[in-house]
Amino acid sequence: MVLRSIVAGCGSYLPERIVTNEELARTVDTSHDWIVQRTGIHSRHIAADGEKTSDLAIAAAQDAMQHAGISADDLDMIVLATATPDETFPSTATAVQASLGMTRGAAFDVQAVCSGFVYATNVADNFIRLGQAHNVLVIGAETFSRILDWEDRSTCVLFGDGAGAMVLQGHEGAGGSADRGILSNCLHSDGQHHDLLYVDGGPSSTQSVGFLRMEGPEVFKHAVRNLASVVGEALDAAGLTPSDISWLVPHQANQRIISTTARKLKMSEEKIVMTVDHHANTSAASIPLALTEAVRDGRVSGGDVVVLEAMGGGFTWGASVIRW
Ligand code: ACO
Repeated sequence: MVLRSIVAGCGSYLPERIVTNEELARTVDTSHDWIVQRTGIHSRHIAADGEKTSDLAIAAAQDAMQHAGISADDLDMIVLATATPDETFPSTATAVQASLGMTRGAAFDVQAVCSGFVYATNVADNFIRLGQAHNVLVIGAETFSRILDWEDRSTCVLFGDGAGAMVLQGHEGAGGSADRGILSNCLHSDGQHHDLLYVDGGPSSTQSVGFLRMEGPEVFKHAVRNLASVVGEALDAAGLTPSDISWLVPHQANQRIISTTARKLKMSEEKIVMTVDHHANTSAASIPLALTEAVRDGRVSGGDVVVLEAMGGGFTWGASVIRW
């Protein structure tokens, strides 16, 4: 028997305010048609003044814990993926821990930008499989609206705010690809590509927060190259092939990146969970937001093979294969 991490529940939270493409077109030189054609995005949620990443994370965590039927006393660990923390330190995860009333175990942040949720899932899965934690709350939470240059039309139309969470729980399995739970994870990074996607500020460089800067077409090329390949690698590690995928839950950056990746995997678009149209790119939050939608509306069900994949600044990229 081997220890596996099963998904015991998932949840999400989106800020109340919805900003449409038409609303953005009133302040920057863009149009609904341009945004939809290039990205598939129709609208995004934007956090209210004073609403912090931890506020979004706490709401998503409570939703996931309720769905899993556990309380803060049952939690051994919180792993929170974000590139937009409340403060430089302490970690946003510890703010969530305090708010939930969890007084034991450990809470910490993981930073891999848009790949953050896949990285956090891998970290949590390792703790569970080593027997160091039983119930782990994995959260992806972002307020990218705070690091956008709202005068730069090439970036400000692409992102939104939100949070999603998943409760992972240790269970014994036989050790094969028919087991429930996380079957494999694959992570990569290549720091040579820093200049293609970064924030031009930080405590040790400029002592300011800075704005997101991106060479969009270059990021696009790397994304389509890396994502299909890392999904193949994770499936191989799980002893499965693309034809075994029931649901692909990709990072929601751009509809064209997602569709190209699916085509490379020879997958039908019907097996893709797509939320980029109404969430835009919420970085580390996008996968758990999409996953929660597909679980709650009944698309994902017992026995399904669910594949998570993402790419983000760094570059970082990765994939996880889960038997539901
Ligand atoms: N509205 C109207 N026109 C625009 C806008 C806009 N919002 N933004 C750019 N344009 C213009 C450009 O100025 C350019 O004009 P020009 O031809 O006169 O010079 C033209 O549109 C084409 O610009 P491109 O950048 O070549 O457009 P492209 O088709 O590549 O689409 C996009 C741009 C949507 C950014 C695309 O490259 C993309 O999605 N890239 C990947 C981005 C991504 O996934 N980022 C997230 C990574 S994950 C993370 O870690 C955050």
